Amino acid sequence: MAITTCIFDAYGTLFDVTAAAREAASAPGCERLAGLWVRLAEDWRRKQLEYSWLRAITGAHADFWQVTQDGLDWALEAHGLQGDARLRARLLDLYRALSAYPEVPAMLAALKQAGKATAILSNGAPGMLASAVASAGIGGLLDDVLSVESAGVFKPHRSVYDLVGQRFGTAPGQVLFVSANGWDAAAGAGYGFVTAWVNRAGAPVDRMPWRPAHVLADLTGIPALAEAA
Ligand code: LAC
Repeated sequence: MAITTCIFDAYGTLFDVTAAAREAASAPGCERLAGLWVRLAEDWRRKQLEYSWLRAITGAHADFWQVTQDGLDWALEAHGLQGDARLRARLLDLYRALSAYPEVPAMLAALKQAGKATAILSNGAPGMLASAVASAGIGGLLDDVLSVESAGVFKPHRSVYDLVGQRFGTAPGQVLFVSANGWDAAAGAGYGFVTAWVNRAGAPVDRMPWRPAHVLADLTGIPALAEAA
């Protein structure tokens, strides 16, 4: 079945989630952060995702902006920075304007040139996604930005992946689903999407019941994959 539609996870896939802590740490007067921003960014991301899964399992949904703040508060406290309200506000401002990975605009443009539909499917709340898409300047290369808020539950719940067929009228096998989150790529494969896992860090594959069909080091190979898959 030919691929008609390319669907992208947002955070960690199109947008570099480590950029907020890295940029904050590079500001003058942030020497303390310079020594720990990598671990702070990792803890922030890990807790953000854990809280999303816990809220999905327990039915206690709150939007991803809330979960992002909760993860940050845990990480700041873990690193003894919980009293720094200015740093907290700065990190959240930077998170709303994350950079896209450098290959993203050309990759999306190549997909549009080839006549593919393109969209984001993300845990992100609509407001935070709109802000990241605008700051990355990629809105004109996307046909839509789909948020889990339409399903009221986080990934990897099937009702989130259902949003793609509801929007584009596709069967799962016509969709190339691209995620840098191994668990998201695996669950997407279980759903029936053709999946590409973007494994920038060379991490081990997630031990889930399903495996991604393709593994790439970055996004540059996506247009060729969409043609060949
Ligand atoms: C997202 C998270 C999982 O954008 O990165 O959905």
